[in-house]
Amino acid sequence: MSENMKIGIVGLGFVGLSLTSVLSSKGYNVIGIDIDKEKCNKIRNGVLPFFEPDLEKTLKNGFKKKLTISNDFSLIKDCEMIFVTVGTPQKSNGSIELSMIKNAITNIGKILAKSKKSPIILIKSTVIPGTMQKVILPILEKKSGKKAGRDFGLISNPEFLQESNAIHDTKYPHVVVLGGYQTKYMKKAKNFFSNLNSNVPIIMTNHQTAEMIKYANNSFLATKISFINQLANICQNIPGANIDDVARTIGLDSRIGKLFLSAGPGYGGSCLPKDVKAIINFSSKIGVSPLFFDAVEKTNQQQIEQIIKLIEKNCGNLKGKNISVLGLAFKPKTDDIRDSISLKIIEKLLKKQAIVIVHDPMAIENVRKKFKNKIRYANSISDVLKDSYCGVIMTAWPEYSKITNKNMKNMKKRIIIDSRRILKSSKLDCIYNAIGIGN
Ligand SMILES: NC(=O)c1ccc[n+]([C@@H]2O[C@H](COP(=O)([O-])OP(=O)(O)OC[C@H]3O[C@@H](n4cnc5c(N)ncnc54)[C@H](O)[C@@H]3O)[C@@H](O)[C@H]2O)c1
Repeated sequence: MSENMKIGIVGLGFVGLSLTSVLSSKGYNVIGIDIDKEKCNKIRNGVLPFFEPDLEKTLKNGFKKKLTISNDFSLIKDCEMIFVTVGTPQKSNGSIELSMIKNAITNIGKILAKSKKSPIILIKSTVIPGTMQKVILPILEKKSGKKAGRDFGLISNPEFLQESNAIHDTKYPHVVVLGGYQTKYMKKAKNFFSNLNSNVPIIMTNHQTAEMIKYANNSFLATKISFINQLANICQNIPGANIDDVARTIGLDSRIGKLFLSAGPGYGGSCLPKDVKAIINFSSKIGVSPLFFDAVEKTNQQQIEQIIKLIEKNCGNLKGKNISVLGLAFKPKTDDIRDSISLKIIEKLLKKQAIVIVHDPMAIENVRKKFKNKIRYANSISDVLKDSYCGVIMTAWPEYSKITNKNMKNMKKRIIIDSRRILKSSKLDCIYNAIGIGN
């Protein structure tokens, strides 16, 4: 396979656009397709639909080489590889919404019907075990009139990138999983990924195991977070105990590992909440009681209540009181607010008739679209804290670690709740409550 080969990428969100930018900047002839015409126009004009470090630069490099962005599916007809990276959001019962992937696959199947190429179709979207064989493969074969494994390749290729590190993770993944039948297409795909990154471990398995690996990965990460949050709540009730010292120390044990042990308001973002709910739903459906994952999920929900309780303990009845939320993105260095815990806190505060003022260095505009004039928006830390009874630090943006007495000067009551324990100064003149620190 040469760098001249054409690669199609269908769905230009965090996963698809990151892959598009990385492959095109490496010189591959990339066709990025999205159903959203306006999004395509923006990307073509160099306007990113979301913030992701290094994405703009990488995409610019791609445009200097061979990159086409379009909503016209027919452009993928000569592609040798087609990655599917459309969203698989959650439904209200926790199962995943497959309409986008069905739609994308239907379009790809129709193009395949007319194409002389034998492309490899790689499904990167996160899907429940069995989806490839029960949903994706039958649609593709029906619409194309061709046979998977013979006329085209079909591979489950789950994605593990982390937002805010997406470009790096796309260039240097810790693993590549290829699920499917051991055909010539599988060998080609293996060569492609080892050419991209010679040291990457490549796991070859079947479809259902590849699909399961993705859920195993994310539910384990969610488990670590719920585990440390439960411990943090215990520490908080032991005078003088500090969850960070506990986490740092157990993290030194290589059997445990140090990552994903930072206690906080609970896991959010576009992946962990939806993937845990999906595995709970799937597990119940196939008759396996999801006791353990239920507990992980409930612990996460409980963490939201924990923060509300802390606010009420310090401020009393919240009706008519200004409460400031510092940090809206689900983590720093992104403007993504999908399933961010901050949004849930805002909703709960509004129910309690508090007046909510919010701040975030990047995500304000996304939050404005959701809450409109139900809440107030501040441009600076001093502004968000003005007239407030309580400032709640939700996202570990570095600027919040530097809050000063001057920033708090115009607060009605100087109460800070630090769900991330990032406020370091001991000289702050305020009532300070932190998740995981016993007082
Ligand atoms: N965001 C992450 O950190 C991450 C990490 C690993 C895996 N995943 C998984 O990867 C998949 C994509 O996630 P994302 O965050 O990039 O999603 P996203 O919502 O940011 O982007 C999906 C894109 O697909 C487009 N789309 C929808 N239907 C389409 C169709 N029929 N044809 C063409 N384009 C279509 C949308 O317009 C959108 O631009 C999901 O299954 C997700 O669970 C996401």
